[in-house]
Amino acid sequence: MTTLAIIGGTGLSELAAFNPTRRETVDTPYGKPSTDFLIGEIQNKSVVFLARHGNPHAIPPHKINYRANIWALKHLGVQDIIAVAAVGGITSEMVPAHLAIPDQIIDYTYSREHTFFDGEDGNVTHIDFTYPYSQKLRAALITAAASANLQVSPIGTYGCTQGPRLETAAEIARMERDGCDLVGMTGMPEANLAKELGLNYAALAVMANWGAGKTAGEITMAEIEENLHHGMANAAILLQAFMAAY
Ligand code: HPA
Repeated sequence: MTTLAIIGGTGLSELAAFNPTRRETVDTPYGKPSTDFLIGEIQNKSVVFLARHGNPHAIPPHKINYRANIWALKHLGVQDIIAVAAVGGITSEMVPAHLAIPDQIIDYTYSREHTFFDGEDGNVTHIDFTYPYSQKLRAALITAAASANLQVSPIGTYGCTQGPRLETAAEIARMERDGCDLVGMTGMPEANLAKELGLNYAALAVMANWGAGKTAGEITMAEIEENLHHGMANAAILLQAFMAAY
């Protein structure tokens, strides 16, 4: 039975040590997921892999069908999700190519289909979201990082912006005052949708760049790609160690 899913973000559209043996197309009541689900094994444990932005990488963060992706994972029997995400660093620890396991979220997104509990069935449902990430999966990721000798920030607040544009310097300064340590565009509503369906969800964030205004000059795609190249290689090592102990 397949219980673990890895959602790959920018820079992780495939995993080197993963040889999928099956490909599943899933139709959902919410429309089509980003792409087919690849099913195989890592360290002899069953894994479902989904490329969040599609394959090829073509769906911008605000157009991802998060509801279809999460519904389909539940339908495939998944219980635990590790969401890999490229992010910008805000606070001093979050240097380019660094890894973080966030423990909190602030949601700045708007006009996304963000809930399974939209009231269509005549019910009003509120979920607890005090701790948006699974403490069990976070602890396992932190342990895996230590066993692989990788430096990670074991906590951090993920600020999720709407995108696809990057932020202004003033927006990043405001996010820092709000308490955000890192900024990305895909963490929400992915995290709350997983929680709404009772799935365990944790994020592995990879710093692609300093947030806007944190360095002189503009943020370039070349710089993002270079940092992700290093950061995602470490993320893949961490995932191997995580799967070995899973
Ligand atoms: N802002 C938002 N999302 C991001 C960034 C950023 O600077 N870098 C990578 N994803």
